[in-house]
Amino acid sequence: MQTGLRFQAATLKEFVGTLLGYAGSEPEEAQRVADHLVSANLAGHDSHGVGMIPSYIRSLAQGHLQLNQHATVVKDAGAVVTLQGNRAFGQVAAHEAMELGIEKARQYGLAAVALHNSHHIGRIGYWAEQCAAAGFISIHFVNVVGDPMVAPFGGKDSRFGTNPLCVVFPRKHGAPLLLDYATSAIAFGKTRVAWHKGVPVPEGCLIDHQGQPTTDPGVMHVPPLGALLTFAGHKGYALAAMCEILGGALSGGQTTHQASLQESVDAIFNCMTTIILNPELFDAPDMHQQAEAFIDWVKQSPHDPNEPIQVPGEWEAHNRATRLAQGIPLDESSWNAICEAALAAGMPDSELQQFRSRLA
Ligand SMILES: NC(=O)c1ccc[n+]([C@@H]2O[C@H](COP(=O)([O-])OP(=O)(O)OC[C@H]3O[C@@H](n4cnc5c(N)ncnc54)[C@H](O)[C@@H]3O)[C@@H](O)[C@H]2O)c1
Repeated sequence: MQTGLRFQAATLKEFVGTLLGYAGSEPEEAQRVADHLVSANLAGHDSHGVGMIPSYIRSLAQGHLQLNQHATVVKDAGAVVTLQGNRAFGQVAAHEAMELGIEKARQYGLAAVALHNSHHIGRIGYWAEQCAAAGFISIHFVNVVGDPMVAPFGGKDSRFGTNPLCVVFPRKHGAPLLLDYATSAIAFGKTRVAWHKGVPVPEGCLIDHQGQPTTDPGVMHVPPLGALLTFAGHKGYALAAMCEILGGALSGGQTTHQASLQESVDAIFNCMTTIILNPELFDAPDMHQQAEAFIDWVKQSPHDPNEPIQVPGEWEAHNRATRLAQGIPLDESSWNAICEAALAAGMPDSELQQFRSRLA
């Protein structure tokens, strides 16, 4: 059910930072996670925004998520570096991995940075945007360890995670071109959002526990569980498999199989292998002109005047502008779950009520 609750990004960020402070995060960590989650909402990806908080607080209580930890380098081979995430907040570990990768790409022209054993790293576009802001192209292969929810093409049960792929190309002006999506037909978080709202998901995204097609998002939340399908049939499945291998195996982490299955649904562990390239080092003086000419060209394809043709990343940039101006919408069920998580994290009810009156 959509309730019309709207939250200003800055106040929501303050609320999340305060909540995580009660949970035990140092101020810098609390701010990093808050910025990441609220940025996902601003970008329009509510599945990876503040709605993740209840799951994070449960993962912490179960002893999986480790607070105030950092990524550590396990192998530095020059342009290739491998980091251990130490079950830290992914928002911290991935930030540190990208910082190091960007430094390496500045030094070598290109770099590969692998991160394993990190808690959930959220919206991958955020990490690509960090690379683009430094002037770099980046390509990210990500797997979700031991948390199967997607069926292989032709299969009838879940065997791997929603394995996102992300690619960014910085433009001279405006938001970068940004490809950022799960290789499942929809992100798992989108089934959670639909389930909370009580609405079906589009056809072709889900199968039930017997392998039959369904649009009921409940099959991902109430046992017996079904599975997500990959996008674009066998092509999406092939890409998901490469995200699993490059993200999970090449990073020094784990792929999903019997021995790596997680015991908790709240502990989401990601591995990510990122390739970072300095575009300035290519012999391509027309690179930006060529990119812009292509963008203009595709936008001129005949279309419904009310629905302009977009390029990758434009959807997020548009949402960001709108939501910064008009606030971030949240459904009541997700908001109530976040408030419960705030109390569980140790926020006094009086302070929660103060925030509620400022936020809702
Ligand atoms: N950490 C994890 O384990 C994990 C797992 C899965 C997904 N995710 C994240 O979930 C988020 C949501 O993924 P999703 O699969 O729901 O994404 P999605 O289906 O909303 O697709 C988003 C992509 O499509 C582009 N796009 C949207 N509309 C467009 C249009 N009209 N024209 C051109 N391009 C358009 C966007 O710019 C973006 O690149 C992503 O940020 C992803 O990184 C994270």
